Amino acid sequence: MIFGLYNGLWNQSAMFLSSLLLWGILAHGGSDFPFTTVVDILSENVEFSTFLRILQRQGCVPILNELQNYTLLAPVNSAFINMGTNESSTPFVLDNFILRNNVLSTSLIDDGITVIDCDVRFPLVLQKSVSSGSTLIKINEATIVDPDLAPSFQSATVHGISDLINDPPLLIDFLQDLEGQTGEFSLFEKFVESLTSDNIITDMEFYNNTILIPSNINFHRYFNQLEINYILDNFSKLDSVTGNIRKAWEKNRLNFFRNLILRGVHGGVHSQPESTENLNNDKISFESNDFGSSISVNDSELSIDSNIVFDRGIIHSFNDIPFLSKATHFNAETYLHGMNSSDFVQELYFRNLQKMLEDESLDVPLTIFVPETSLNEKFGYTKSNLLYHFIENQLWLEEEFLGIKSSTKMFESAFCSSNKRLGGNCQRLRIKKNLNGYIINDKYKILHNKPFEIGKTLIYTISEVLQLPGDFVPSLNPFYHCSKSLELLRKINLLDLPPNQEGYTILLPCFESWSTNGLDLEYLRRNLTAIELMMKNMILEGLIYTDSEDINLNTKNMFDQEISISVRTESSADSEKVFLNLSSVRESIETELNMDVFFNQGVIHPISKSYFPNDLSITLGDLIETTGTTAFIDFLNFFDDFNAVLSNNDSYSLLVPTKNSLRIDGIDKNFTSLHQWLELHVIPGNATSDLLECGNQINTTSGEPLTCRESSPGNYLLKLKNGNDNEVRILKKGCTSFDMNSCVFLIDRPISLQWLSPNKYHLKLPGVAIGIGIVLGAISVLALLFCILVVFVGRNHGTKVGEQPTDTEDNAAARPLLSANNAEPNSLAGSNDYQRRRFESAYSSNSSRKPIDVSTVRTSVNPV
Ligand SMILES: *[C@@H]1O[C@H](CO)[C@@H](O)[C@H](O)[C@H]1NC(C)=O
Ligand SMILES: *[C@@H]1O[C@H](CO)[C@@H](O)[C@H](O)[C@H]1NC(C)=O
Ligand SMILES: *[C@@H]1O[C@H](CO)[C@@H](O)[C@H](O)[C@H]1NC(C)=O
Ligand SMILES: *[C@@H]1O[C@H](CO)[C@@H](O)[C@H](O)[C@H]1NC(C)=O
Ligand SMILES: *[C@@H]1O[C@H](CO)[C@@H](O)[C@H](O)[C@H]1NC(C)=O
Ligand SMILES: *[C@@H]1O[C@H](CO)[C@@H](O)[C@H](O)[C@H]1NC(C)=O
Ligand SMILES: *[C@@H]1O[C@H](CO)[C@@H](O)[C@H](O)[C@H]1NC(C)=O
Ligand SMILES: *[C@@H]1O[C@H](CO)[C@@H](O)[C@H](O)[C@H]1NC(C)=O
Ligand SMILES: *[C@@H]1O[C@H](CO)[C@@H](O)[C@H](O)[C@H]1NC(C)=O
Ligand SMILES: *[C@@H]1O[C@H](CO)[C@@H](O)[C@H](O)[C@H]1NC(C)=O
Ligand SMILES: *[C@@H]1O[C@H](CO)[C@@H](O)[C@H](O)[C@H]1NC(C)=O
Repeated sequence: MIFGLYNGLWNQSAMFLSSLLLWGILAHGGSDFPFTTVVDILSENVEFSTFLRILQRQGCVPILNELQNYTLLAPVNSAFINMGTNESSTPFVLDNFILRNNVLSTSLIDDGITVIDCDVRFPLVLQKSVSSGSTLIKINEATIVDPDLAPSFQSATVHGISDLINDPPLLIDFLQDLEGQTGEFSLFEKFVESLTSDNIITDMEFYNNTILIPSNINFHRYFNQLEINYILDNFSKLDSVTGNIRKAWEKNRLNFFRNLILRGVHGGVHSQPESTENLNNDKISFESNDFGSSISVNDSELSIDSNIVFDRGIIHSFNDIPFLSKATHFNAETYLHGMNSSDFVQELYFRNLQKMLEDESLDVPLTIFVPETSLNEKFGYTKSNLLYHFIENQLWLEEEFLGIKSSTKMFESAFCSSNKRLGGNCQRLRIKKNLNGYIINDKYKILHNKPFEIGKTLIYTISEVLQLPGDFVPSLNPFYHCSKSLELLRKINLLDLPPNQEGYTILLPCFESWSTNGLDLEYLRRNLTAIELMMKNMILEGLIYTDSEDINLNTKNMFDQEISISVRTESSADSEKVFLNLSSVRESIETELNMDVFFNQGVIHPISKSYFPNDLSITLGDLIETTGTTAFIDFLNFFDDFNAVLSNNDSYSLLVPTKNSLRIDGIDKNFTSLHQWLELHVIPGNATSDLLECGNQINTTSGEPLTCRESSPGNYLLKLKNGNDNEVRILKKGCTSFDMNSCVFLIDRPISLQWLSPNKYHLKLPGVAIGIGIVLGAISVLALLFCILVVFVGRNHGTKVGEQPTDTEDNAAARPLLSANNAEPNSLAGSNDYQRRRFESAYSSNSSRKPIDVSTVRTSVNPV
C-alpha cells in the first residue's frame, strides 16, 4: 500500500523530472530559464523532493502558484530524516514555511537578530552571523543552506533550509521545558501553571505579544516568601475563596502578569531604544544589545535568554526586571493569603470585619494574631473573638520586652464591648515572655518573635484561635488556688456579677492567703453578714489594671459606697509590686504588676493575703469562739489582769488549746495554777511576729519564753524554751481584722507548767508547789512501776505489744494528717489525734523513731 503510494509519487516526480530535463536542455540551466515558478524551483532541485512530495500530497501546489510576493522556506530532504518514515506524525502546515507579502532576500537581512512577526503564523527569528568569512543565517531552529532561489515568473523567493519549522510550544510547555533544563524559573512556571488552570492564559489578549520572564532570582529580589506564596497561590486557596476576596486576588495576579507582557512582538535589533508599553499601559523602554541578542527593559540588566518563540509571541528572560513588583498590590489581606490564612480572611469578610484589613493607605497601625491553619479545623469564630485577634497599634514584641524587668505586659485588643459588661472598654491581652518565646493569656503561643510587616500592619502567627476571656470562675488559673474565696462568694451568690455598665475590678485572696488566716476563714464561713462585708468591699466598679501607673480615682464597692483608691507601683530588684490603697481597707493591698486576670466583666487581681475592710470586725473573742474553746474566754475574764486581753485595745496573741485537750488535761476554772497557766498562753502583741515567723524566742506574759520549730513546711511546733522536749502543735491561726499583732493560735493541747525544767520549776514555785512536785514525782514512780507490771503481764500473755513502743520515729514530720490545715479541733478525730499525740509526746520529739499507740495496736492485734 505504502509502496504503491510511493510508486505513484515517483511516477509524478519522474514526469516532472523529464520536463525539467527538457527545459534544461533548451535553456542551459534552470535558473536562467524564463518563466520559472516557485514550484519549478522545488522541482528543479532534488534536495526538495520530499518537501515537494508533501506539498503535492497536501494539495498546496496551486496555492504556491497563485500566491505573489512571498518567501518560501523549503526544507531540504535531510530535514525530514528526523521524522523517520512516518511523515504524518507532525501535521504539516504550509503557513509555517511561508512569509507572506515579503520577498526576503538574504542580502537584505540585517546582521544579528531580526524578528519577523507580520504575516507569519508565528514569529520568525532570523539570525545572521558571519563566521570565518561565510555568512550563516538561521530562521528559528533551521539554517538557510540554499539561499535566494528566485523564480523568474513569480514575485517570490525560495530558501532551502536545513530543518523543518515546527509549531512553537505553548507558553506553559516552554516554561516547563525551560525549568527542566535550568531549574531557575520554577516560580514563574508555577505561576503560569496556576493561571492555566484558571483558564486565564487562554485569553486572546495574551496573543501576539512579548513576555518578559523573571527568574527565581528576580522574584526573590523583589518579593518575600509571603508575597511569592500569594502571587503563585502556593496553597491553592484561590479556588476556595469567594466574592470580593477572590476578585481582588485574581485581579492582583492578572496585573502581575500583564505587567510582564509588552504589547506586540519585540525582539532583535533596534537601532534606538524603543518605547513600548505593557498590558497595564505602563511605559517601558525596550533596548537591544549585541545585534539584538540580548535585551534590556527599563534599564534592567541584560536578559539571560532572548528572542525565544512560543505560540504566540516571543519571550525574553531576566534576572532583574526592575518593575517586577510594580503592579502587585500588597496589604494585610494579601499577606494573610500568603500565610495560608485565607480562611481567616474569609471569616473576617463573613463577619463584616474586612475594614480591619483595609489598605495601609489609611495609615492605621495594626497588629494581627493569626491562628496557624495547619490544624485544618473549622473554627467557631464570633465577631467578638475575631476582633480579639487585633491590636490597634504596632506591637514589636522584641522591642516591647527589651530591657524591662516584668516579663508580662498587657495590651488592649480591638474588641471593645459596646454592651454593659466592660462599659465600652476594650478587652485586654496579656503577653508573657519566657525562655521559649511569647505567650498570650498563658495559653496561646506566638510562633515567631519577628512579625511580618506590611504597611503599618504587623502579623504574628499564633498556635490557636484566641478565645475571649470567659466567665469569672473559669478565667482563674487553678494554680492560683482561689477556691476558698470563691466558696465565700458562692455563699453570698456573687459568682455571677450583675451587669454594671462599667465592668468590675475584683481583689481576690488566692494562693496562701487563707492559710495564715484559717480561723478568720472559718469565722466567715459561719457568718454570711461577715462574708458580705469582706467580699463586697473587694469588688469595685470600673476597671483598674496594675499597669495604670500611679493614679488616684474614686469608685464604688458592691455596697454602692464611695471608695477612693490610689495605685502606686514599686519596683525592686526582682519584682514589681503594685499597691492599692482603698479608703475602705486599712492596709495597703499588695498585688503584682501585670498579674491581672481578665474575665468577661472585668479584671481580677489575685492577691496572696487576706485584707479585711474597716467595716468588718473580727475580734480575738470571735476567733476564740471559732476554735470552739469558749472556756478560754471565761478563764481570761476570771482574772482582772487578763481583762485587757479581750478589750482589743492592746495587742495580745493567744495560744488556745482545743476544747477536748483542755478537758482531758482537766484544766477548768477550778485548776489551781490557772493564772500561771494562762500566762504561758498569752503572748504580748510585740512578740506575735516572732510567733508568726516561728522564731526561737517567743516571749509569753509569764516570762517563760517559748521556742518554735517548723518540722515540715507549714507544720509548726512550740515548746518551752526552758522546758523538756514536750511540744505542742499549731493547728490553725487567725488574726483580728484590725491588728496583725492580735492573733489566735489553735494548739493541739495545753502547754503544761510541768514541762519546765525541774530546777527552773523549783526556783519559780513556792514551797507548796515543791510539795506537789514531790507528790507528783512519787506518782510518776508508781506509774512507772505500774507500766513495768503491765508490760510484764502483756509478755506473759504472749504478745509483743509491749516492745513495740520503742519503735519510734519523728512523729511530726511523718504525719501530714496532723498538718495545720487538715486538723479539725472540734471533731472526734481531733480528740483521737490529741490522745495519740499525748502518747507520742511521752517520747522525745527529737527521737527519729515513731511510737505506736498501744490502744490502737491492741484493738487491731487482739480485738477481744
Ligand atoms: C506585490 O508587491 C508589489 C510591490 O510591493 C505590489 O505592487 C503588488 O501589488 C503586490 N502584489 C500582491 C498580489 O500583493
Ligand atoms: C504515524 O503517526 C501517526 C500520528 O502520530 C500515527 O497515527 C500513525 O500510526 C503513525 N504511523 C506509523 C507507520 O508509525
Ligand atoms: C496574531 O497575529 C497573527 C498574524 O499577524 C494574526 O493572524 C492573528 O489574528 C493575531 N491574533 C490575535 C489574537 O491578535
Ligand atoms: C509554598 O509554601 C511552602 C510552605 O510554606 C514552601 O515550603 C514552598 O517553598 C512554597 N513554594 C513556593 C514555590 O514558594
Ligand atoms: C519604565 O521606566 C519609565 C521611565 O523611567 C517609567 O515611566 C515607567 O513607569 C517604567 N515602567 C514600569 C512598568 O515601571
Ligand atoms: C494550608 O492550610 C490548609 C488548611 O486551610 C492545610 O490543610 C494545609 O496543610 C496548609 N498548607 C501548608 C503548607 O501549611
Ligand atoms: C456576723 O458578722 C457581723 C458583722 O461582722 C456581726 O455584726 C455579727 O455579730 C456576726 N454574727 C455572729 C453570730 O457572730
Ligand atoms: C498607701 O497606704 C500606705 C500605708 O497604709 C502608705 O504608706 C502609702 O503612702 C499609701 N499610698 C498612697 C499612694 O496613698
Ligand atoms: C469548781 O469547784 C466548785 C466547788 O468546788 C464546783 O461547784 C464547780 O462545779 C467546779 N467547777 C468545775 C468547772 O468543775
Ligand atoms: C513588749 O511589750 C511588753 C509589754 O506588753 C513590754 O514589757 C516589752 O518591753 C515589750 N518589748 C519590746 C521589745 O518592745
Ligand atoms: C523578750 O524578753 C526578753 C527578756 O525578758 C527581752 O529582752 C526581749 O526584748 C523580749 N522580746 C520582746 C519581743 O518583747
